[in-house]
Amino acid sequence: RIAYVNGRYLPHAEAGVSIDDRGFQFADSVYEVCEIIGGKLVDERRHMARLQRSLDLLNMARPLTERALAVVMRETIRRNRVVNGVVYVQVSRGAIRRDFPFPPEGTPPTLVVTARSNDLSKIEARADKGIAVVTVPDERWRHVDIKSVSLLPNVLAKQAARDKGAQEAWLVDAKGYVTEGASSSAWIVTRDGVLVTRPLAGEILPGVTRSVVLDLVAEQGLGFEERAFTVEEAYAAREAFITSASQSVMPVTQIDGRPVGNGAPGLVARGLRRDYHSKAE
Ligand code: PDD
Repeated sequence: RIAYVNGRYLPHAEAGVSIDDRGFQFADSVYEVCEIIGGKLVDERRHMARLQRSLDLLNMARPLTERALAVVMRETIRRNRVVNGVVYVQVSRGAIRRDFPFPPEGTPPTLVVTARSNDLSKIEARADKGIAVVTVPDERWRHVDIKSVSLLPNVLAKQAARDKGAQEAWLVDAKGYVTEGASSSAWIVTRDGVLVTRPLAGEILPGVTRSVVLDLVAEQGLGFEERAFTVEEAYAAREAFITSASQSVMPVTQIDGRPVGNGAPGLVARGLRRDYHSKAE
């Protein structure tokens, strides 16, 4: 596998960043994950807009113009011969002697781009079965709307899920409401057939897949409410699913060991999954 690091394409084993990198030392770094289907980037514009937003909110400089970055992403995909998979883009505030405040202006940011293939048949098999999620307290910092690599709470949540034989963790706020998944947006469909997902009020990442699914929902005239839902409500839901760039729409068939609905992927989730790639740009 070949990675792009600050202007060079290198085999992964030789690719690296400095031990002084602020991404390594302070998680002073942001990222994007963008799906590749049939060699094409999915929802690229929305991912690039979110990257710009993350950079702006942290006052971080762009390592490359958007056009140059688009070229690097495509070249990384090409060199890795990825047809179906994901491309990963990470930008840090650069490498400099360890000191908490921002480095002097002009310190070059670090840019890393990697690409890897995914076995679509494996992901489809997963979607046919649905995944299990477990709920854990949301212990993240306040700025989770920024796609930063400060992901330690997400790592711990995901591992807690793994330890219980589940594939995703749903993070729950102090009032008992689900915020989102450790690396996905969380959705339910109520007994009345209404789709529910948490509004973008700062407590969740603005998911790109979420935004495209919302467009689909509006287009198809499905019943929809953008509001927080409790864990109890999720237990009683007819359907549940998650959305993320790497899995598009993934049905959830178990929450904390309880079957969701009849325990099989729901009609709404399956329909949205089928329609997703017709809508994604
Ligand atoms: N995760 N919420 C969180 C906390 C996430 O990390 C992600 C994405 C999402 C879904 O966002 P999107 O639809 O734009 O992928 C929601 C990526 C895939 C990751 O960290 O690998």
